[in-house]
Amino acid sequence: MTSVPQVRSQAGPPVLDVTDLSVHFSAGGRLLGRGRDVVRAVDGVSLRIGQGEVLGLVGESGSGKSTVGRAVAGLLRPTSGSISLGGREITRLSRSQMRPLRRDVHIVFQDPYSSLNPRMSIGAIVAEPLRQHGVARGRERDRQVDSMLAKVGLRAQLRDRYPHELSGGQRQRVGLARALVLRPRLFVADEPVSALDVSVQAAILNLLTDLQEEMGFSCLFIGHDLSVVEFISDRIAVMYLGKIVEATTRLRLFEQPQHPYTQALFSAAPLPDPPLQRGRVRIVLSGDLPSPLDPPSGCSFHTRCPVAVERCRSDEPALTEVTGPGHAVACHLVDEHGPPDVAAAVAAGTAGTKEDRVHDQA
Ligand SMILES: Nc1ncnc2c1ncn2[C@@H]1O[C@H](COP(=O)(O)OP(=O)(O)OP(=O)(O)O)[C@@H](O)[C@H]1O
Ligand SMILES: [Mg+2]
Repeated sequence: MTSVPQVRSQAGPPVLDVTDLSVHFSAGGRLLGRGRDVVRAVDGVSLRIGQGEVLGLVGESGSGKSTVGRAVAGLLRPTSGSISLGGREITRLSRSQMRPLRRDVHIVFQDPYSSLNPRMSIGAIVAEPLRQHGVARGRERDRQVDSMLAKVGLRAQLRDRYPHELSGGQRQRVGLARALVLRPRLFVADEPVSALDVSVQAAILNLLTDLQEEMGFSCLFIGHDLSVVEFISDRIAVMYLGKIVEATTRLRLFEQPQHPYTQALFSAAPLPDPPLQRGRVRIVLSGDLPSPLDPPSGCSFHTRCPVAVERCRSDEPALTEVTGPGHAVACHLVDEHGPPDVAAAVAAGTAGTKEDRVHDQA
């Protein structure tokens, strides 16, 4: 049992269950427990992903998204907290104990070129996981590779080509084929389309949606672009400086964003309807993301929050379901009646006034 609030999954028993995950690095780059110059890349993150569910993790650069993804994929050992995959705790497993579990979770990265071995043919790259796990040999392995290439929309003739002979979109298709050929239970997609042309992004996102429906894997989809994450996710968790500040279903997040940071993210995303777009107040956040080496006291967003009050500087808000079940938010200003209207405060010029706002003094 834990008292840590979970980002709840609605879709059956969780495939992934992360509780109070923290990953701290030394400023020099090593993983660390305690001490000075600690980079709190991830600080107390809890989330669950149900069978066949896609959880989007969104936040600006440096908020800790990839670190969560890498920990979940078993690529780095967390400082504390637990990660359970299909009911099995993975954080304390040795390399050899971890090996069979690697079949269950696969990750795809942003840059498909640097993650594909340039000296291996496409066929060999996609066959590699099958070989490593002794899943199929000979003609059966070839058959599975061909079938996977077809699934990701690549012609069989590309088997004998090399990564440099392919376009960015084709390379990301190869990355998907390699990640999915073992039919993992969980697929971690770390900004899989950010490095691609806009025209290719939509094709890859559509492909990923189709594959997810067909193969039924669960997915942690990481992105900084809300419209991309929105397209693919059932639920969305918003990260800020190593913590989840809000999480709920995609629809609810779009219709009723609560946290001032989420409201700011939405205000920056383009709307399809031009009149709506013209009538909207853009919430511009001052300054950059603070350093995770020295996170602000209280609510870590208070230094940039247009509506922060004194309490936000001293007390850290807990992630709780204030406005109803299935919608968790970490903000002192959100109560059962709803969120503060950040856009209205910005438009009225009341945001940032000196009496009770703190960000000017920070
Ligand atoms: N190996 C490491 N050593 C030291 N600090 C690290 C290491 N890896 C990540 N960090 C720091 O942890 C923080 C979170 O990094 P992370 O890559 O998880 O962010 P992100 O949300 O994925 O950002 P982006 O959108 O740019 O990919 C950053 O401040 C980063 O500099
Ligand atoms: Mg990243």
